[in-house]
Amino acid sequence: MDYMARALVDIDRMPRGGPNASCVDRLLETDRLEYLDRDDVDEKTKRSVIRALEWTGEAFGNTEKFARIALDEVAEVPDPKILELGAGHGGLSRKLLDWHPTAELTVTDVEPVSVKAIAAGDLGEHPRATVREIDATAIDAPDGSFDLAVFVLSFHHLPPSLAARVLAEGTRVATKLLIIDLPRPPSPLHIVRLATMLPFAPWIPFVHDGVISSLRTYSPSALRALADHASADIELRGGLISPQIAVVRRRQSR
Ligand SMILES: C[S@@+](CC[C@H](N)C(=O)[O-])C[C@H]1O[C@@H](n2cnc3c(N)ncnc32)[C@H](O)[C@@H]1O
Repeated sequence: MDYMARALVDIDRMPRGGPNASCVDRLLETDRLEYLDRDDVDEKTKRSVIRALEWTGEAFGNTEKFARIALDEVAEVPDPKILELGAGHGGLSRKLLDWHPTAELTVTDVEPVSVKAIAAGDLGEHPRATVREIDATAIDAPDGSFDLAVFVLSFHHLPPSLAARVLAEGTRVATKLLIIDLPRPPSPLHIVRLATMLPFAPWIPFVHDGVISSLRTYSPSALRALADHASADIELRGGLISPQIAVVRRRQSR
């Protein structure tokens, strides 16, 4: 237990830029929470962020892009069982159900209000969808229940020890865990990205959360350290200016 307590504390000290992050990168980090993560923020503001995420996902083609990436991961499975964690609005699950004729989706989020809104829409009545409240850090499902778990634009919400727990839990309940998140670009580029967003942050909740997401997103080396902490194998793609993609599997004993 002593070892576990020490390991948790140590991983939580890791900068979002990874164990060897530069001094500048360490400055481009914050403990401030996004509106979505705060209990003192009204539901109207939070729903506006979720609606904006759904709209931008459709308008800029990310929902389709992410659905393609997810389906590639289960291309060999005839009737895949897919778990979406942190679904927010359910747009990705809806696309997966539209595109795959036999996939079964479990659409989940930790936020009861989001789960209720998803269940009240078309996904709540879809014959191949189940809508549930699930915390990605403590997934209420038996080992090996799913072929794929996906966690999109959500991983950065969690501090390192909880993020590592998602890696362990996701790879316990699913053969593979697909994480797609904002990239953490090299510091000069990161500063430019932040500078374009900051002027709008006080006025537009979606941009406010975007700035904090950018400061909290994990670098490739941080993702590797988290996977190591969770005893998982990780394969990374993209991530310079395109979204960071991580495919995580339970580490096979060698
Ligand atoms: C930025 S939103 C992303 C929503 C959606 N996946 C998308 O791509 O637009 C982050 C989501 O992660 C969810 N979330 C945060 N912590 C979580 C946890 N521990 N387990 C499951 N979902 C979580 C939030 O409730 C929120 O819906």
